[in-house]
Amino acid sequence: MIRAGRVRVDGLVVTAMGVKVDPRRQRLTVDGKPVSHAAKKIYVLINKPRGFITTMKDPQGRPLVSELVGDVKERLFPVGRLDLDTEGALLMTNDGALAQRVIHPSFEIKKTYLAVVNGRVGRRKIEALRKGIDLDGRQTWPAEIEITGTDDNSTTLRIVIHEGRKRQVRRMFAAVGHKVTYLKRLAYGGLRLGNLRTGKYRFLNKKDLQRIFSKNILYK
Ligand code: URA
Repeated sequence: MIRAGRVRVDGLVVTAMGVKVDPRRQRLTVDGKPVSHAAKKIYVLINKPRGFITTMKDPQGRPLVSELVGDVKERLFPVGRLDLDTEGALLMTNDGALAQRVIHPSFEIKKTYLAVVNGRVGRRKIEALRKGIDLDGRQTWPAEIEITGTDDNSTTLRIVIHEGRKRQVRRMFAAVGHKVTYLKRLAYGGLRLGNLRTGKYRFLNKKDLQRIFSKNILYK
């Protein structure tokens, strides 16, 4: 493009190869059209498998979620965290501003989980979890919770919370005497995992991003 005389810096045609440009101070155009230096914003939803860690590096060498989006050329980072042993919906993006908004407690984005716990969970415990229980001296915010299945020695539940405290769902159940044996995040706000297979991702469009912030989530 330079050889063809199509590139200009501050209005002057570039003739030399390897000219350095400061995109914040100089105006770069190709065929008269401005070239933006901003990286393209990419948003993906991945279905995180168990055993993958939601940090960008791991001294212990465990598998990283970033490896699951290795074929995307932009550098994506996870929005918030999911425990090593939790699977399900995880957002990844290179858009720091969106990530901040999604994580910020004031947006109260609801996260929906499917949990399998040991034993049968009685009515009173459900009520306690629903109202809020003490974790580290601070009450959890009211949760939406319902039992979706039971058998002799386990209970399957759907729980919706909007806080993101460390290992929150596991610790809430532990506080009422039940160990979580399986945990999966089904939805992030109104954005559902749907039939995305474990370890796979999909690109999100504008509508999907709006769904994250939608207040009316109905997950049946
Ligand atoms: N709650 C947990 O306990 N673990 C997660 O990964 C997410 C929510």
